Amino acid sequence: MSDVSGSKVANFYQGKSVFITGGTGFVGKTLIEKLLYSCSGIDKIYVLVRDKYGKQAAERLVRITGTPVFDRLKESRSEELKKITVISGDISQECLGLPDDVLKILEDEVSVVFHLAATVAFKLPLKDAMRININGTENIIELCHRMNKLEAFVHISTAFTNADRQEIDEVVYPMPMKLDSARLFAEMFSHDEDIITNFMGKKPNTYTFSKAFAEEQVMKQCEDLPVAIVRPSIVVSALKEPSPGWIDSWNGSTGLIVGISSGILKVAIGRGSNVTDLVPVDIVTNLVIVAATECRKSKQLKVYNCCTGTSNPITSDEAINIIRKVALKYSLNEFPWLFVMFTPRVFLYNLITFTLQIIPAYLIDLWCTFTGRKATQMKLQSKLKKVVDAVKFFLLNEWRFSDNNIRNLLQTMSPEDKETFNFDVKTINWETCFRDYLLGARKYLLKIHK
Ligand SMILES: NC(=O)c1ccc[n+]([C@@H]2O[C@H](COP(=O)([O-])OP(=O)(O)OC[C@H]3O[C@@H](n4cnc5c(N)ncnc54)[C@H](OP(=O)(O)O)[C@@H]3O)[C@@H](O)[C@H]2O)c1
Repeated sequence: MSDVSGSKVANFYQGKSVFITGGTGFVGKTLIEKLLYSCSGIDKIYVLVRDKYGKQAAERLVRITGTPVFDRLKESRSEELKKITVISGDISQECLGLPDDVLKILEDEVSVVFHLAATVAFKLPLKDAMRININGTENIIELCHRMNKLEAFVHISTAFTNADRQEIDEVVYPMPMKLDSARLFAEMFSHDEDIITNFMGKKPNTYTFSKAFAEEQVMKQCEDLPVAIVRPSIVVSALKEPSPGWIDSWNGSTGLIVGISSGILKVAIGRGSNVTDLVPVDIVTNLVIVAATECRKSKQLKVYNCCTGTSNPITSDEAINIIRKVALKYSLNEFPWLFVMFTPRVFLYNLITFTLQIIPAYLIDLWCTFTGRKATQMKLQSKLKKVVDAVKFFLLNEWRFSDNNIRNLLQTMSPEDKETFNFDVKTINWETCFRDYLLGARKYLLKIHK
């Protein structure tokens, strides 16, 4: 069903214009598509896009609307795409780098702001991560204050802003230092990894550190704005919309599960019995859309932990079992002996990697070179090492995210809205979710269509 006339959620968007940052990203694209597909009364969607790789913002957006995420919309109501207006700008610049006339349009017309733009790179120098994730958020807040019709500002954060705690409630936790001191420090030492790691204390990387400060700024600077924070855990392919398994990002766990299913990854740093918190992208975008309808000016800012670990947990070992079954059923494995071991010990990880991954990869590459074929296996191994490094923190640790605000929000929804804008993680069937994730990664990322 594309639209629901009796839908409280769709009605909220009737005649309203929204402003989205991060619309070229994985979550942002999915959000734009869903708004156009299920809230057909929406007036305009202004999307802030930066010029990049020598391509102008408008050209970039045209390319994006040509990707499969918009297929179902184009097949049913392609005219909806005309509601998108591209605005060329950059969140890290003052006033987003926008000219006065464009700012005036946003100030006069926009009722809902979705701020998704961020750098999600874990290892960006601290001062760059802070410039985009903190200054960028402050610039958006500043604009929100000038918007005459603002009814909702939804800031997208991450569940791991507080990865230094084990129990994470739906509240903004204060940072252990002042932002000014952090800025000064980052300016002075940004390229000295050891000093910065020490400085960040228990925050594992510059991404979560800067996103945690961004949350604090939202809390401090938005007291008189209708605001909410949505914190997804690790975002994976779509459960259902725009199509099951849709994905266009290698970030997060995707490289790992593709490596496991093909049989080239045999070992990872982590603990198999830990709950792994993954959340499908359409669950996130549906929550974001509904959360906006409930934004109220309040000193008690609403935070939503968009996570699965509490209401529908799955451990890494359970996930691997499903991935293994799917890979065998659909013959996704290029190598025999489909198994994966988790170990928290780096020495054991290195030993098993060398024996079961590097030696075979080296021998295969040698064989390929002798027989005139392209040697690819050692390159793949080096990519896999980076993936394992990036996700090890999330596989070694376990968190308990409370999701009471999400459960309460669900209670307020009609059965139809619950169906159209589903964000109930209890509806996730992990067997089909992982099947679609693997097949989706193969189709949309690896472009294998058989
Ligand atoms: N994916 C996940 O697993 C996950 C998990 C938790 C939270 N989140 C949060 O969800 C949001 C979206 O993440 P994602 O996965 O969609 O990331 P993504 O695919 O990397 O997209 C990031 C978006 O931010 C834009 N952006 C970055 N810097 C910008 C700047 N200076 N000015 C304007 N736009 C800028 C990017 O634009 P360009 O195309 O120009 O680079 C892109 O549209 C982020 O806030 C992230 O922290 C994501």
